[in-house]
Amino acid sequence: MSGSHHRVLVVGSVNVDQVIVVPRLPKPGETVGGGSYSIHPGGKGANQAVAAARLGVPTMLVAAVGRDDHARLAMQSLHDAGVDAAAVVHVDAPTGVAQILVDHGGENLIAIAPGANQLLYPPDVAIRVAARVGPGDVVVSNLEVSTEVVAAAFEAARRVGARTVLNPAPAVRLDAAILAACDVIVPNEHESALLASGGTAALLAEAGGAVVETLGPRGARMLRAGQPEVLQPAFPAHVVDTTGAGDAFVGGLAATLARGAGLVEAVRAAAAVGALAVEALGAQTSFPDAQEVRSRLDDGEDGTSGGAGVWGASR
Ligand code: RIB
Repeated sequence: MSGSHHRVLVVGSVNVDQVIVVPRLPKPGETVGGGSYSIHPGGKGANQAVAAARLGVPTMLVAAVGRDDHARLAMQSLHDAGVDAAAVVHVDAPTGVAQILVDHGGENLIAIAPGANQLLYPPDVAIRVAARVGPGDVVVSNLEVSTEVVAAAFEAARRVGARTVLNPAPAVRLDAAILAACDVIVPNEHESALLASGGTAALLAEAGGAVVETLGPRGARMLRAGQPEVLQPAFPAHVVDTTGAGDAFVGGLAATLARGAGLVEAVRAAAAVGALAVEALGAQTSFPDAQEVRSRLDDGEDGTSGGAGVWGASR
């Protein structure tokens, strides 16, 4: 696809997702039988990179995996999606694993053993980011890697004029310096409440950049200092599995910004990517390509008349 002006670089986690689909999620201490098992490439960093790359935007990943079979599965998926994984290091720890339970309504429970993801070294991350991005590129991160890694990555990105997008998941309290280094923060409602005791408005006041809060089936809302709030309705979707939907949204947002869209258009495209991602099992395995996103945007089932914008066929 032509028309891409900038690149996306993701600094984040790589996991292998061991998924059991069960009739209903167990309570603590309870066993639920009758499940079916599958294994998929995952991890928020890898997912976000694959979501952007599948849309045809040049995408790089800075991450750490082990030297095991799980690493081979994860690297194959990155390769198949066209992610430049030259800055993924192999370290002496197991590749991250996520144990995921999904019920028949698409809800999930996730437990993570981060393994190699904990061995990213901030100074080394800064060097790899600085060597790969330039003005206008979009650097994305999340909190499945340490806050020191995020800080190093965003500082390096800002120094060369790249834009920064943080998905603060799973949420932890963040230093004011990290929030100030974010151009866009993309939490869900639960994460907003954890990040700032006054909720999203307080988060915006602390961060200064834009906050795009995802609201699940209610869509997403955009807050920017001094501007009215914008609500992006959700696109209708037939929910099979919500795992990775937030990552698809973040990858779609970054890719659309990299293609030259403004934030309002990027959030609408991200909502379309997120809706398409819940319609199949697994995270990366369910992410759409640009053609699918273009159709969903053209259909306008979110009730807006935005059209395909930067994802239009003529671009
Ligand atoms: O956001 C979904 C991801 O969270 C899964 O792929 C799993 O690996 C966990 O990191």
